[in-house]
Amino acid sequence: MDRRFFSQLLAFGAGLFTTTQIAAKDDAADNENRADTPEANTPVSSAASSGLPVTVSDFVGQAAARLPRASFDYVTTGSEDEVTLRDNVEAFRRIRVLPPLLHGVNQTDLSTTVLGQKISMPVLLAPVAALRMLHPEGVMASARAATRAGTICAASSSALNSVEEIGRSSAGPKWFQVYVPRKRDVAAKLVARAEAAGFKAIVVTVDLGERKDADLRNRFTVPKDMLLKHLRDVGFSHLTDRNSHEELNAFNAAAWDISLNVDFFRWLRGVTKLPILLKGVLSPDAAQQAVDLGLNGIIVSNHGGRRLDGMPASIDVLHEVAQAVDGKIEILMDGGVRRGGDAMKALAYGAKAVLIGRPQAWALAAGGEAGVKRVLDILRDELTNAMIASGCATVDDVNASLLRV
Ligand SMILES: Cc1cc2nc3c(=O)[nH]c(=O)nc-3n(C[C@H](O)[C@H](O)[C@H](O)COP(=O)(O)O)c2cc1C
Repeated sequence: MDRRFFSQLLAFGAGLFTTTQIAAKDDAADNENRADTPEANTPVSSAASSGLPVTVSDFVGQAAARLPRASFDYVTTGSEDEVTLRDNVEAFRRIRVLPPLLHGVNQTDLSTTVLGQKISMPVLLAPVAALRMLHPEGVMASARAATRAGTICAASSSALNSVEEIGRSSAGPKWFQVYVPRKRDVAAKLVARAEAAGFKAIVVTVDLGERKDADLRNRFTVPKDMLLKHLRDVGFSHLTDRNSHEELNAFNAAAWDISLNVDFFRWLRGVTKLPILLKGVLSPDAAQQAVDLGLNGIIVSNHGGRRLDGMPASIDVLHEVAQAVDGKIEILMDGGVRRGGDAMKALAYGAKAVLIGRPQAWALAAGGEAGVKRVLDILRDELTNAMIASGCATVDDVNASLLRV
């Protein structure tokens, strides 16, 4: 199978939507048949159904009740056998915390900086595609929630709003995550527009190519009007309403560069002054490449188990990556963060902050901006509790000596 044909199979990977059917307009009844993904089957607690989520998992049932099944599965499932998806969550559970006994700490300060930006806690919103399919305000609601929570929203270029719409949506700091158009002039303009729209950093995601069984079964795709707007927003202004959905899907499948290499980053350095983060790092060697390229940060990530199944859990590789980087550039991580205590474990292994993907998406579907704000507040409270219990008065006090594997 050649690379081009393979790319047609990728579901919304590098911004790719593939199957031609319109997303099924299922109702909550279809959720009886939800994909057999671990988190899809989270019991809907009474707290969740009464409308007061107190944990990340409380949002899962609420999102399932509100979303068409195809959209819920798109968010919740992982690729193939979901080994990596499961591992991301379970690897955190395997790590034990052994706090000092007489630590005398009764309050903590969660504030920190990322790329020089002060934030109120080390939890950011990860780039998530298609958010406007989950809630009419989509990523704009996420960005506003992040601002209210005093943190950063990393917006996906595939969130289905234009870079300018996202830029205007909130006063707080935002990063722009790009999937890279093959046409470098379109890519250069997109990055320049992000700079003009006030974004503080460019995130380049390099783990590309999404093929998820549930999305194939559900024939998940982005509705024609949203896909057209998305492609035009990116800069493919020749596309019009006269193009069929099939044509747009075919164009989309071929529009993105899924074979990025180091030359791309040299090129990108030349077209923007913004800090650049590389997302998708899982090994010390890859981290060293980012250092050698003069990038500003890395995100240790396996894309939430949505890419190559069988890749290691992010938290399992974080420590060795951090040791290789040795403080030369900033490290963030994502994948499987479901509790504030997970964030503490990531900080202990060398991350400056974590990002949340599915928790943000479930919360957005469940409650829009208020939902995303609530999920951030929950993680803040849990992290506060974990740090005080571990004798950490500041994020700098969190270190690997707390952990037992
Ligand atoms: C529905 C969905 C869409 C995503 N879309 C993007 C995207 O457009 N760009 C990107 O870099 N990562 C994307 N990701 C990956 C997230 O940024 C993040 O790496 C991952 O969700 C972290 O794992 P978690 O879901 O366990 O928090 C997406 C994740 C989800 C769940």
